[in-house]
Amino acid sequence: MLRRTSGSPELVDCVEDAAPTLSVAPRLSLAGVFAGVGGFEVGFARHGYESALLCDADEAALAVLKARFPSAEFSTDVRQLVELPAVDVVTAGFPCQDLSQVGSRKGIDGPNSSLVGFVLELLSADRANAPRWIVLENVPFMLRLHAGRAMSRIVDKLEANGWSWAYRTVDSRAFGLPQRRRRVVLLASREKDPRVPLLGQDAGRPQETKRGRRACGFYWTEGNTGIGWAVDAVPPLKGGSGVHIPSPPAIWFPGRRFIGTPSLGDAERLQGFEAGWTEAAAEVAAGHRRRWRLVGNAVSVPMSAWLAGRLSAQGSFDAAAGEDLQHGAPWPAAAWGVNGLRRASTVSDWPVREKYVHLASFLQDRAAPLSARATAGFLQRLRNSTLAREQNFEKDLARHAKLQQKVESRRRRRARG
Ligand SMILES: C[S@@+](CC[C@H](N)C(=O)[O-])C[C@H]1O[C@@H](n2cnc3c(N)ncnc32)[C@H](O)[C@@H]1O
Repeated sequence: MLRRTSGSPELVDCVEDAAPTLSVAPRLSLAGVFAGVGGFEVGFARHGYESALLCDADEAALAVLKARFPSAEFSTDVRQLVELPAVDVVTAGFPCQDLSQVGSRKGIDGPNSSLVGFVLELLSADRANAPRWIVLENVPFMLRLHAGRAMSRIVDKLEANGWSWAYRTVDSRAFGLPQRRRRVVLLASREKDPRVPLLGQDAGRPQETKRGRRACGFYWTEGNTGIGWAVDAVPPLKGGSGVHIPSPPAIWFPGRRFIGTPSLGDAERLQGFEAGWTEAAAEVAAGHRRRWRLVGNAVSVPMSAWLAGRLSAQGSFDAAAGEDLQHGAPWPAAAWGVNGLRRASTVSDWPVREKYVHLASFLQDRAAPLSARATAGFLQRLRNSTLAREQNFEKDLARHAKLQQKVESRRRRRARG
């Protein structure tokens, strides 16, 4: 197990018994709770962090983690962990089912999202081996649901145990990925000022892209109350859907008047993994559904890589910027709590603006046509709804459904011989 070098908060030993030597680059270590398929771990590995412990309850996720991080220790249930190893960073992208707008909305006391309490308890218990940083991640709806009780619960607990904290909503598009995925990332520390790395960089949100001939993503499984419309991007990849199965979003290619769905490999890439990253999940679950769920649940790798890189940021933070938080008001998109003071931050959800790759050119595989049935079902729901939509979109949906119907009937006839 990796241990922090006593007296030196900057370094960790690589091997327990090895004498420290200047020629060996110091390694950093991480424990990933709710590690999923390793969105945090891959991003942090790019900045030299080794995963010492990875914990996840999903056997398919564990199969991926074991294949990708063979030197880590593994655990299957946060509730069974009696301690965390002495590491530099603990990451916990905790379950969002109870905090998501489209989930159960049970909130922080729900059976899934409440599991973060076990991590906070472990971190409170062991002061000697405490990590330098804690990273939590979840959906932005947690800031509004039940008047933001989830965030209140978390930061109250952190403060009670001496942690300073900062959180910020970030959009994966800021890191060049054509996926509009906004997530809340919270960083806490007892030794360092979390505002410097997390809030100290801001590129500002660019103007939304005009559609033109750009591909647009949407959820074909929805259509009654919202469709997740995204110009030149896919909406957030999800672990579930309105039809209660994990499924890809659809993409409208206006130039080709075509409606398709991205391949699983491209979905992995849309989260910043290499294509095929979750292949090992097939060892425990046949078919692609489980892999879609794992990919939809993951943290975008370039976001976590950005954060890992920022942990060594130096400097000071202008505490005067931002306003005091009002008791009982919903939590803002970004805020911090240091030295007993809590304030909102005005940073945007684009900390950087990395080179953006347009959705149509990002995809490496040809999008599969959305089936006639799925297209017609979506169109029907859309027409019955009051949702605003472009006429050309509706026309192309109708055209695609008709053409696809012919293609599928021909295929069925051929199959019958
Ligand atoms: C939002 S996902 C985290 C995804 C991860 N950050 C990634 O990049 O893939 C939440 C994870 O919590 C896991 N989980 C749920 N209950 C758990 C438990 N009791 N112990 C450990 N992990 C659990 C789920 O299997 C799921 O993979």
